[in-house]
Amino acid sequence: MPARLVVLISGSGTNLQALLDAARSDQYPAKVVAVGADRRDAAGLIRAEKVGIPTFVVEPGDFADRAAWDAELAAEIQRFDADWVVSAGFMRILGPAVLSQHPHRIVNTHPALLPSFPGAHAVRDALAYGVTVTGCTVHLVDDGVDTGPVLAQQVVMVEQSDTEEVLHERIKAVERDLLVGVMQQLCSHDVEVIGREVVIS
Ligand code: GRF
Repeated sequence: MPARLVVLISGSGTNLQALLDAARSDQYPAKVVAVGADRRDAAGLIRAEKVGIPTFVVEPGDFADRAAWDAELAAEIQRFDADWVVSAGFMRILGPAVLSQHPHRIVNTHPALLPSFPGAHAVRDALAYGVTVTGCTVHLVDDGVDTGPVLAQQVVMVEQSDTEEVLHERIKAVERDLLVGVMQQLCSHDVEVIGREVVIS
């Protein structure tokens, strides 16, 4: 049985699309069973709807506080019996209700080589710093901001002419393949987390 992925998005959902495309193959050990977003206008929701995958939206503005939002997000994810939750361009910090519901089973993709440039503006921050090499990181989510154990990283060179947009697009092209590969590994093996080490056997 393929592993059940619930994918969380905020934007265009090209990482989601990469997972949807990969999962079309019977050989891929996972399928996307639901897509959640923190905003109704997240363009990526249409990618799921097009292929008949259920979607849900949990907008922080609809809730009295962060705890209530977190509880509702956890409840929505729970409905789909997820083996793994994938934060694929989900621009929110997950709260304790979601984290405790899926211990060591939430994956995030980040457009920088962590621990450099965590947070929401990783590509802008890397450019502003003047690095010549950056990349992307796929990691497990813990209760910090982009601090969980690293699963895989890939390097992308910075070009002198790069703008934030151009560099981010180049990173995203690499990021999509990395995410698809990592989820393939995680969903076809036993996974044990010992401190910051992720043992895949
Ligand atoms: C990715 O680079 C992700 O790491 C970052 O936002 C981007 C999302 O892109 N947090 P998309 O929505 O998957 O196209």
